[in-house]
Amino acid sequence: MPLRSSRTITARLKPCSRNSRSARSGTKRALAEQICNELKVHATIEEEIFYPSLSGKIEDDTLNEAYVEHDGAKLLINDIMASGDDEMLDAKVKVLSEEIKHHVKEEEARQEGMFARAREAGVDLTALRDQLMMRKQELMKVAKSEGLPPAEMRVLQT
Ligand SMILES: [Fe+2]
Ligand SMILES: [Fe+2]
Repeated sequence: MPLRSSRTITARLKPCSRNSRSARSGTKRALAEQICNELKVHATIEEEIFYPSLSGKIEDDTLNEAYVEHDGAKLLINDIMASGDDEMLDAKVKVLSEEIKHHVKEEEARQEGMFARAREAGVDLTALRDQLMMRKQELMKVAKSEGLPPAEMRVLQT
């Protein structure tokens, strides 16, 4: 999904992975968890609503790679959420942010990106946005109240 939100997320992952000395570890963990939750919501709404709507409209390869990239990120996200005080937190967050950056580029690249191809194929991205936003609000509510369960893998075996 287009996404101001995904850019914001990669921007916020940066200070989280840098400044390891200056940031207190509790703050850093809290920030990492907050970002992980947002990424989980983002991945869920794309996998439930956005990606299925592109099925048959853009190349299977492109869509399949996106699912694999999501699962790769979710592995790290689940690990970050499950590990307590972890000396590898910085490294995990850094790698996660690199993965997300790559993924966002593949979704949003001007001509070759998923969105560009979807638009070309006549997918109504504006109509989808409302659906995505509604589901996002629902999931953010769950995240705030009982908390989200670990992210489910769609294609990777774990
Ligand atoms: Fe996205
Ligand atoms: Fe995505």
